[in-house]
Amino acid sequence: MKNVVCIGCGYVGSVTSVAFAALGYHTVVIDVDSNKVEMINAGKSSLYEPGLEPLIQQVSGRTLFAVSTYEPIKEADIVFICVGTPSLVDGTADLTYVKMAAKQIGMALNPGKFTVIVNKSTVPVGTADLVTSILEEESGLQAEQDFAVVSNPEFLREGFALEDVMAPDRIVIGTSNERARKQMRLLYEPLIQLNSADQVVYFETDAKSAELIKYASNAFLAVKISYINEVAKLCEALNAHVPDVAKGMGLDSRIGSKFLQVSSGWSGSCFPKDTAELLATSFKYGSELSIVSAAITANLNMHLYCVDKIVRQLGDLRGKTIAILGLTFKPDTDDARATQATVIIRKLIELGAAIHVHDPMGMPMFSALNGDLPITYCNSGEEAAQGVDGLVLLTHWECYIKLDWQKIFLSMRHPYILDTRNFLDKKTLQELGFQYDGIGLGRLS
Ligand code: UDX
Repeated sequence: MKNVVCIGCGYVGSVTSVAFAALGYHTVVIDVDSNKVEMINAGKSSLYEPGLEPLIQQVSGRTLFAVSTYEPIKEADIVFICVGTPSLVDGTADLTYVKMAAKQIGMALNPGKFTVIVNKSTVPVGTADLVTSILEEESGLQAEQDFAVVSNPEFLREGFALEDVMAPDRIVIGTSNERARKQMRLLYEPLIQLNSADQVVYFETDAKSAELIKYASNAFLAVKISYINEVAKLCEALNAHVPDVAKGMGLDSRIGSKFLQVSSGWSGSCFPKDTAELLATSFKYGSELSIVSAAITANLNMHLYCVDKIVRQLGDLRGKTIAILGLTFKPDTDDARATQATVIIRKLIELGAAIHVHDPMGMPMFSALNGDLPITYCNSGEEAAQGVDGLVLLTHWECYIKLDWQKIFLSMRHPYILDTRNFLDKKTLQELGFQYDGIGLGRLS
């Protein structure tokens, strides 16, 4: 067993294919976008992810190849479907690309070879069954005997994707087909060997449970963040200190210290989409996950709470200018899709403010998605702060710690800072004369 194929050269497909190529498998990534195909074959990445491009460079042309046709399916032992599943307006996942991929795979399946087809994309519960029926229809082959579909969700965090794929906490395999189960185990064996035995938990279950594990995990993390963000609001009312509250809570190993960092809310390409899909599924089956619904509402409220904090400090925003530092949903990514920044900036503009923005990597994507917004894009944090009435840090990029804060203080019209990640050095900024405000740090004196 040695031939791996990944359909889709987006985020999940790029990272997954590179990982299997680095493990020594002959890996072909298939994408309709010839530009992406050329980039991979030239040793380049079409997206930013720390460490990804150097690794593509190492394996491209050796074990990693990119093409635009489905021909390699014939030789494949395992085919990963890694295409996008964006949200439809009703919150459900759009399976157009998954269905298209399944059709093409079905047409190319080799009748003389048992092939395992794996759903790696985040797909609604029941998609393994859907893909199975499309493959049967297109190939005329018999599921379970000629091929089998497995759910193997990805748990990659942007910014840490290579670490997550090469040293995962868990590998979840959902199938009831014994042959596919064995093939998946063989595939992952070198990865398990790379890590110490107790580090990677290899967990086998049925396809539906595996599909649900992905959604239930992401929604749980979103609930956890929304919870600490609401606790932070209460801290402000009570004059308590949320970093200490979070630390004290996290000391309980049943709770854990991760994902208790306050923010202006969660966003990104996964949490909003996955919570919406899980909620829609729960409604569809008459078993509403009201806690997920509450987390979504709390999250939007958190974005708006940050706007309220600014208004409380600066009053009427008409004629005022605000600098926003950070447009991406978290640091170390250029991903500025549906971020907190979009909601917060739109609201500030609605209230009459002029906006300066800076982000080390996210400005091209943000401006492409928000071309209608009258925003001044700046080359540095210092430039963004020039003459503004307030500065809001939304994303905790490491580089913002090292800004010339003295210069910024002197150049701002009014030295108000809202640090929504409690990330900057409050004491130093206050000594410089800033009116520093965080989230959940007690009342602003
Ligand atoms: C997430 C999951 O973590 C990952 O397992 C899954 O495969 C994809 O979705 P990702 O979207 O890359 O990964 O980002 P993550 O690091 O989880 O952060 C999501 C959002 O929550 C970001 O906006 C982040 O800033 C925010 N966040 C995270 C907080 O506000 N507080 C925290 O304590 C942690």
